[in-house]
Amino acid sequence: MIAIYPGSFDPITLGHLDIIKRGSRLFEKVIVAVLRNPNKKPLFSVQQRLEQIRQATKNLPNVDIDSFDGLTVNYAQMQNAQVLLRGLRAVSDFEVELQMAHTNKTLSTQIETVFLATSNEYSFLSSSVVKEIAKFGGSVDHLVPPHIALDIYKCYNQKSPVLNSTTTKTMSFPKKVSPDLGV
Ligand code: PNS
Repeated sequence: MIAIYPGSFDPITLGHLDIIKRGSRLFEKVIVAVLRNPNKKPLFSVQQRLEQIRQATKNLPNVDIDSFDGLTVNYAQMQNAQVLLRGLRAVSDFEVELQMAHTNKTLSTQIETVFLATSNEYSFLSSSVVKEIAKFGGSVDHLVPPHIALDIYKCYNQKSPVLNSTTTKTMSFPKKVSPDLGV
């Protein structure tokens, strides 16, 4: 059975990779499919994301990387896939994901959505969280593979944070001078 793992992956996180790894044990082939979405302004181009994912999954022989546009079910049919693979982190995901699964079912009865519960350690993790942390100078070394962390720091013009503590991974910024207080 072939499974499509569709998403934006801007960027791919350790949570996504956990789903891909576990999916690759369940299915003959997993195709990680990056949506080309002209309505979104991503941090990374589709080409960059494909390269990031390729590098991160190079040790998984039955995982392919691709991009697509249009409806996911049409892409799945084109690839002769029977399954759409999605990760579920929390109840908040469930509502959106269930609606998406039902919608896709109305578009193609041949395709099943299969959910994997995200591993506990990644239950908080999303691409948006990663971007938010990096934007404000924090370390994302524990959230994405090293080559992607470097890409992210480059984007935000940030040096790789050097602190190793898991609780205080922040950059120190110069103190803001307040004209009112005269400091
Ligand atoms: O990583 P994301 O942004 O949560 O992924 C969402 C994605 C790409 C799976 C979803 O938006 C999608 O399938 N878009 C393609 C258009 C489509 O098929 N829409 C019908 C299902 S709602």
